[in-house]
Amino acid sequence: MTNDLRQLLCENGQDHLVAHLDRLEPSLHDNFCTELESVDWIRATSMHRLAGPQVTPNLPAELGPIPASQLSGPERDRCWDLGIDLLAKGKAAFVLMAGGQGSRLGFDGPKGACPLGLPDDLVLFEILVRRLLRLGELSGTIPPFAVMTGPENDAATREWFQKRQGPAVPPSWPVLFQQSAAPALDQSGKALLTKFGELALVPDGNGGIWERLERSGILLAWKDQGVEWIHVAGVDNLLSLPCDPVFLGFASDSGAPLSCKSVLRTDPSEKVGVYVLDGEGRPRVAEYTELPPKTAAATDVDGLPVFREANIASHLLTLALARQFAGINLPWHLAVKKIPHVDPATGVDLTHQLGCKYERFLFDAFPHASGMSVLRVRREQEFAPVKNALGIDSPQSARTALESLHRSWISRWNLPEHSGWIDPLTSYAGEREAKTASWS
Ligand code: UTP
Repeated sequence: MTNDLRQLLCENGQDHLVAHLDRLEPSLHDNFCTELESVDWIRATSMHRLAGPQVTPNLPAELGPIPASQLSGPERDRCWDLGIDLLAKGKAAFVLMAGGQGSRLGFDGPKGACPLGLPDDLVLFEILVRRLLRLGELSGTIPPFAVMTGPENDAATREWFQKRQGPAVPPSWPVLFQQSAAPALDQSGKALLTKFGELALVPDGNGGIWERLERSGILLAWKDQGVEWIHVAGVDNLLSLPCDPVFLGFASDSGAPLSCKSVLRTDPSEKVGVYVLDGEGRPRVAEYTELPPKTAAATDVDGLPVFREANIASHLLTLALARQFAGINLPWHLAVKKIPHVDPATGVDLTHQLGCKYERFLFDAFPHASGMSVLRVRREQEFAPVKNALGIDSPQSARTALESLHRSWISRWNLPEHSGWIDPLTSYAGEREAKTASWS
């Protein structure tokens, strides 16, 4: 270890790592040294100082509800046509956030590759690929597509896309880029080890997406290609509509550089963040953990929650705004959770002692947008999360939601003999004809 690294570690409260390296058997020494060099220790110290367990989080004051638009049938059709036109001109691209750990799902692999019990064993990645291919058929242009992976699933995600079988896709599509990671720390800010000679490095939230999109050169390449709109969405929604033409038409019509989809939150205890306006009228997301129970449960004259626009992680923004977001220093958030780790001196498993994971959230950039519009969509048509192994928001509940959506299309199409399963290659959002918004 160089003296510089030794000094850096000691200055940032990580002297236990210096001691660990000095005791480490030679075969593990070099790798551990490289790992230590790869970490930004000044950043690690600052995330602990600014958001550690010793800090009382600043609960947002004076939150107000945000207005949301709902589209009538004719408005929807008009937006669809506008969006198809934008897609035809190659003006929209899709970015999939797939860098998370998926710890609640408990699947040993990327969430996007988790079996869902669907026909032909289709998984979230493949469903999204097929919806994008269908858009290519509808508009004549397959949207550019990028996937953000995480430190733990990068290799497996690359392998999945390399080995994927199914309808052909354009060359080098999607392009994959890896999000940043940060060391997991104990409650006093010391970095944890998963085993002798290995740091516990964990994905540091989806907030790094802006910086990584910019630094990877993807935004610049897309700009040169003529892309003007970027749709960013999470991997874990089986009903997700990548580069949704309706959303594109709505966003381009709204005049705002940022638009977000919401669904109606009716249950105050539902664990979703909500779109709100802060005291200065700027848009932001309040996580469910940030809303005091009384505020979360407050109802309006119509009997619905005051804070009712639930975030479904589907955001459409101009490429210029994405580039602006890349320059913002987003705040850190702490998650105290079980992190597999050992005692650096004895190797005894200490996973039962909760550790600190620090994350940044992409939506913390939203207050910096000059305007934001919210499009409320129907939960049964667009939101079926895959978060847990069983029960609510599980593969089973998401599959049930997709099946019931397909049944509603089939009944609208008046096809009583249909098998009940609709390949996304043949219908993106219930449209029947390849040309325009022909829904029945
Ligand atoms: P979640 O908040 O559900 O996190 O991510 P997760 O890691 O997938 O699952 P748990 O909490 O460990 O069970 C919401 C979306 O943000 C992405 C996820 O892949 C998902 O699409 N995400 C999350 C990232 O891309 N990177 C992260 O560091 C965290």
